[in-house]
Amino acid sequence: MVATTTDHTITRLNVPGPKAQTILERDRAVVSHAYGRVADFVMSHGLGSQVYDVDGNRFIDFVSGIAVNSTGHSHPHVVRAIQQQAEKFLHISSDYYHESWVRLSERLDEIAPFSEPASVFVGNSGTEAVEGAIKLARYHTGRPNFIGFMGGFHGRTLGALGFTASKTTQRRGFLPIREVTHAPYPYEYRPVLAMQPGDADYGETVINYLEKIIFKSILAPEDVAAVLVEPIQGEGGYVVPPASFFPRLRELCDRHGILLIVDEVQSGMGRTGKWWAIEHWGVKPDIICTAKGIASGVPLGAVLAKRSLATWPTGAHGNTYGGNPLAMVAALATMEVLENGGIQNAVDQGDYILQRLHAMAARHPSMGDVRGKGLMLGVEFVQDKVTKVADARLRNRIVELAFEHGLLIMGCGANSMRIIPPLVVTRAEVDEGLDIFEHALTMAEQELL
Ligand SMILES: Cc1ncc(COP(=O)(O)O)c(C=O)c1O
Repeated sequence: MVATTTDHTITRLNVPGPKAQTILERDRAVVSHAYGRVADFVMSHGLGSQVYDVDGNRFIDFVSGIAVNSTGHSHPHVVRAIQQQAEKFLHISSDYYHESWVRLSERLDEIAPFSEPASVFVGNSGTEAVEGAIKLARYHTGRPNFIGFMGGFHGRTLGALGFTASKTTQRRGFLPIREVTHAPYPYEYRPVLAMQPGDADYGETVINYLEKIIFKSILAPEDVAAVLVEPIQGEGGYVVPPASFFPRLRELCDRHGILLIVDEVQSGMGRTGKWWAIEHWGVKPDIICTAKGIASGVPLGAVLAKRSLATWPTGAHGNTYGGNPLAMVAALATMEVLENGGIQNAVDQGDYILQRLHAMAARHPSMGDVRGKGLMLGVEFVQDKVTKVADARLRNRIVELAFEHGLLIMGCGANSMRIIPPLVVTRAEVDEGLDIFEHALTMAEQELL
């Protein structure tokens, strides 16, 4: 047992315990091995930002089901909305109408950062939102090609997978899809392009590369339907672009009649302290993809498009579960929790975590970079801060040690860690989680550096 500066004690847990072991064995026999697991956590239940396994071990949750449980686990307001809806009807299909579907679309229209009203298409996941956005851009512009970014993650159906450039395991054996050209993401900590004299920042370097190299030698801009980009790269390592990137990208798109699609599946719905991460750069996109945090865990994705773009005819796109009533009421209740304090809490707790992480980085040689906005925060681990050699082994060991001491935390990118608690996380939970994180980090550094 270790005492910490914030009065928490850190105990080594016996994980996975006997009940968990039994379920893990049954899982291995029958659940598809395609799933990659992060830790042997077998969930029993959760409340707010804390989760319990089947052996009664308690964990602070810094993962939120990968940015999904924005209102924490089983928020009473969300649970009540789902229960009440379940008693009325569970499904009617998108061939008919119901009010909460309209209401959610109205709410999304209200918060869409567009220069005109929005048209909203709902589906079941982030990938489906990306598919819808790509299809709409292809249809509306009549153009066949797209631009994506290295390190980007947009999902795993073939259309979305064409853009995903996060890990080769996700693409190997499934491609080719010819229409996507990938540019380097403006990853300032690890630039792959040389900045030129006069570039305001590395964001501008990337835009100049698109315009002066890609558009001159590979891809005619008038054949490009859209650029699909994450405002903050998620699976790629929680990478925040420099100030010039999005304003310059918007200009570039406008100059060539290219649509700007932002994939806010991970960064959206208040996680970064604003409804949409793109709002941090004051840029108005043409299409937004959202999912994950929108409905607190009930599967839901949505495409928000400027209404003037929604020129596709009736029947051009659709799905059976569109407007699923449980998802609609869960999303409406989620949005109420977020606007009644959740988003502000993301700002407050996010600022506090960043401060603590910067203080930690001064004590730990392996914390190469600390970055992020609101409660979408990342730490990049290196062998040392001068050479910046990536240290995936250390990052992975921290994940294991954190789990053994009562913290769920997950990596991203090659050697980064993401910190994404529910937006309702309390200061006490933040302190407890960060104490365990630093404890695991100290142990991992002693073992491996
Ligand atoms: C930015 C982004 N887009 C799309 C997706 C795919 O979402 P889903 O897994 O719900 O299909 C993800 C999932 O991690 C994501 O982070």
